[in-house]
Amino acid sequence: MGARILVLNGPNLNMLGVRQPQVYGDNSYADVVDVCRRAAAARNAEVEVRQTNDEAELLGWIHDVAREREFSAIVINPAAWTHTSVALADALVIPDVPVIEVHISNVHAREAFRHHSYVSPVAAGVIAGFGIAGYGYAVDRAVDLS
Ligand code: DQA
Repeated sequence: MGARILVLNGPNLNMLGVRQPQVYGDNSYADVVDVCRRAAAARNAEVEVRQTNDEAELLGWIHDVAREREFSAIVINPAAWTHTSVALADALVIPDVPVIEVHISNVHAREAFRHHSYVSPVAAGVIAGFGIAGYGYAVDRAVDLS
């Protein structure tokens, strides 16, 4: 199979552009989708971009990757679940595909509770602080790892 990248976004990322623009910038969620599609197209790869505010739905999507084997890598911005969810970290190792963690903001320059990630130990790499451009870097690298 050619590279097929699944980009997953956690809670509140549908509110980009409205939500704390001083932290997350003026770009919308649609712009995130666009960045991912352009990065994939540049590598002749396929990409699917999803967002949910429901942790159970996110876990289900990850389980589907393991069952259906339609994706070669996962790029994920887990948003607040980064810092809270053992269940998410447990799920991400099930499909046995590379995982790249993305954050729009530099979480390490923010509140202490954002410095710890349950996802980073199961990720091939972490991109943080480059705005929505980080999604493009992550998709590009996900293609390399596919
Ligand atoms: C975020 C950083 C998280 O700490 C926060 O909870 C988010 C977005 C980012 O992209 O910078 O919702 O993942």
